[in-house]
Amino acid sequence: MFCETKDLTREALKALGLNFNPFKAVVAPRPIGWVSTINKQGVVNLAPYSFFNAVSSDPPMVFYGANGAHEADGGEKDSLRNVRETGEFVCNLVTWALRDQMNDTATPAPHGIDEMKEAGLGHLPSRLVKPPRVAASPAHLECKLHQFVELPVDPRNGKRNVMVIGQVVGIHIDDAFISNGRFDTVRAQPLARLGYMDYAVVTQAFEIKRPSWPLARKKAQADAS
Ligand SMILES: Cc1cc2nc3c(=O)[nH]c(=O)nc-3n(C[C@H](O)[C@H](O)[C@H](O)COP(=O)(O)O)c2cc1C
Repeated sequence: MFCETKDLTREALKALGLNFNPFKAVVAPRPIGWVSTINKQGVVNLAPYSFFNAVSSDPPMVFYGANGAHEADGGEKDSLRNVRETGEFVCNLVTWALRDQMNDTATPAPHGIDEMKEAGLGHLPSRLVKPPRVAASPAHLECKLHQFVELPVDPRNGKRNVMVIGQVVGIHIDDAFISNGRFDTVRAQPLARLGYMDYAVVTQAFEIKRPSWPLARKKAQADAS
């Protein structure tokens, strides 16, 4: 099938044999940035963002996309509003063990509610930024705002989309998740977002070394023929 994205009405999707817009299911798995921020009054906020990823490593940079408005009051989502106020955020790693608490923090709690506390999660102080870290998370990235990028507004619903780009100024890793000098991703069991209401969890990894030039595999094939 093929669909032009500007035509994706419910009827158009149905005609294609689809119940929902497939975009997010195709761009999957996506890591989840569990973003903690703090407002000017010092109230902590925590929410999951799966339009999240790393975009460079030297210096390390990450982004998350705040889509649409805060469901309770129609203003900006707290994770965007707070970064406008303070210029800082922390990305906490979401793991299989923390899936329910992560989901709890997606609730559109009114401004000024500490969602970390609501989800029964303990705080840990950060070193270089004010927002605290989720104590139960095995890794955290302390970030300072680099830039907001206003993305196009969908004319059908008028929803704003803002990309928040941050520079990672500090990395915390729980020592229990370091094996042989490496962050043990499989032990941490990070959660990833798929399409619809689906998730995936990392439970195994494999290694493939980068090829040199010329490609040894191609040369071996050529030599054999
Ligand atoms: C796994 C998961 C991923 C999410 N990803 C996003 C996202 O990338 N962008 C977004 O705007 N909302 C996303 N949401 C919804 C927000 O978490 C939700 O709107 C939340 O209430 C925002 O909270 P805040 O106002 O405290 O920032 C996601 C929700 C879940 C459960």
